[in-house]
Amino acid sequence: MQVKPIEWCDTTIRILDQTRLPSEVVFLEVADYVEMAAAIRGMRIRGAPAIGVAAAYGLALGAQAIEARTEEEFLVKLGTISRELASTRPTAINLFWALERMNRAAGEGFALRGSSPKGSTISEIKAVLVEEAKRIERENEEADRRIGRLGAELIEYGFTILTHCNAGALATAGYGTALGVIKAAHEQGKQIKVIACETRPLLQGARLTAWELVEEQIPVTLITDSMAGHFMNRGRIDCVIVGADRIARNGDVANKIGTYSVAVLARENSVPFYVAAPTSTIDLSVKSGAEIPIEERSPEEVTWIGLTRIAPEGVEVANPAFDVTPHQYVSAIITEKGVLKEPYEEGFEGFVLKTISQ
Ligand code: MRU
Repeated sequence: MQVKPIEWCDTTIRILDQTRLPSEVVFLEVADYVEMAAAIRGMRIRGAPAIGVAAAYGLALGAQAIEARTEEEFLVKLGTISRELASTRPTAINLFWALERMNRAAGEGFALRGSSPKGSTISEIKAVLVEEAKRIERENEEADRRIGRLGAELIEYGFTILTHCNAGALATAGYGTALGVIKAAHEQGKQIKVIACETRPLLQGARLTAWELVEEQIPVTLITDSMAGHFMNRGRIDCVIVGADRIARNGDVANKIGTYSVAVLARENSVPFYVAAPTSTIDLSVKSGAEIPIEERSPEEVTWIGLTRIAPEGVEVANPAFDVTPHQYVSAIITEKGVLKEPYEEGFEGFVLKTISQ
């Protein structure tokens, strides 16, 4: 089964509402960019690469509705839509990467078509934006499959792999990064097993990773986040693989809150800790993880589980959605361009990546 978290349907965008999983499989028709911004903010679509694809499609959809007489007017309106989409979530760099790529495609499109009559140029650029968003989606999926193949080389027959949060098809363009490695190893017949941390507070591990792996018939055992150390200490985990929301120039990795604790436990117990992410998740403009903005989400995500309040009224709550794992804890970063080890900065420079402006 191939899960498609997002699909372009010409006049709308279809997204799988991840807040309803696993109880219900519900698709939403997103009709304009304002609805797309709300869907990203409300985590109906989430996971760094999927957020990038959603923003790209949101911008392409918004562009179709722009009424402009000149190229300049079109670009000003496109900029307003871009800023709205960029304001949805601050940590995953893929969001800004995708929007920058889309805006560049529009600018280059106008430059190339400069000589044709203006009205037709604007409608051509609207088509260019749809094509660019589709290309971003396609390239993301190709990158995932390559990450899967390269990462699977690190997985031995019979391994038990611990993962945190959801870095599967739901979080990407449809295959997965950390779960892409797991799927590739499974497809190669390596008889692997997965231990999935539930991932408080929003339970992406319990709701999404467990759902995807059950659907794929890959053996999975769900644990609470606080059980990870116990299983490592008992020798029950062969390696950890997680995704990433942003990787700094020095190799520090921002990922779902709780990842840092898993990495420290992995080091303490001599368990390799791998990060799987496309190169679009690497942000050369931040020197270290200390510079990565960490999203603070609403207290209700912590004080409530589903429809049940679990904490007293009036209690103070902190809810950082991500943490940073220092590069020293990362055994390797698996990208579509290769598997990197320390020193990460040198490896990233070899990829000749562009710096993303936000
Ligand atoms: O808050 P979320 O659910 O968007 O966070 C998702 C994660 O932290 C994932 O691990 C990360 O984006 C990698 S997805 C391939």
